[in-house]
Amino acid sequence: MENFTKKAQLQQHLQSLKAAGAVIGFVPTMGALHVGHLSLIKQAQQQCDVVVCSIFVNPTQFNDPKDLEIYPRPIQDDIAKLQQVGCDVLFNPGVTEMYADNEKWHLDIGELEGLLEGKFRPGHYQGVTQVVFKLFDIVKPAAAFFGQKDYQQVLVITQMVKLLNMPVKLAMCPIEREADGLAMSSRNIHLTAADRQHALILSKTLNNVKANFDSNHIEQLTQNAEAAISAELGLTLGYFEIADADTLRPATQTTKKVVALVAAMVGKTRLIDNVIVSS
Ligand code: PAF
Repeated sequence: MENFTKKAQLQQHLQSLKAAGAVIGFVPTMGALHVGHLSLIKQAQQQCDVVVCSIFVNPTQFNDPKDLEIYPRPIQDDIAKLQQVGCDVLFNPGVTEMYADNEKWHLDIGELEGLLEGKFRPGHYQGVTQVVFKLFDIVKPAAAFFGQKDYQQVLVITQMVKLLNMPVKLAMCPIEREADGLAMSSRNIHLTAADRQHALILSKTLNNVKANFDSNHIEQLTQNAEAAISAELGLTLGYFEIADADTLRPATQTTKKVVALVAAMVGKTRLIDNVIVSS
């Protein structure tokens, strides 16, 4: 695997591959790679000739400095995992390689910015679009692969690509789960054994909503879900929403594409999860 920390060198390398006709697939990550990330790499390998993975813990998308500080950065492990799955190129820049001092960014992504995650993490999606715009501009991939676990992020990036006419095809890949249903996340490393058990209520509740969706009212399902999660020890519910899968506005009984999304503090760790109820 080729490993670059400088964008100019990465670009030079990719230019020669593109000149030889290679289709570049891109998997942007913040590292602490797990099976979910590796499944994105595998998806990209199926559709593209060369796969680039970036590992960059992006400071502009963290609204809590403590969260940024404790974000896991096991770079040697990550490199080993990428080598094992046969990733072709790693881009692992430092902060000064990605950002000039006092850089400003604002992209009007409409309502999506302030809903759900956006409400709980003000400025988060500005930081995400800022860094993904920069990464797309450096790598110029034909296709980029994102995990469904960050469902709202996929919608936000789709909106950015549309607004800015970026020539990249986006793919959303299914959530990878542990055998007991817990959605894989780089943050799971922070869960204590007890947290880990309590966290299972999230996927359980989402599955329950999906199973009962056709025979129940959305309001009732939401109330039951909120009650089940709130009753679980050690959890503080952020939101549980049954939403239109395209807009993330609350769904009604006639909404065709529906997604259920949840966020909760589990002990000291904030987890999110979702399930596509109908598509
Ligand atoms: O999903 C993530 O890991 C990050 O939000 C992303 C897309 C790599 C941007 O920093």
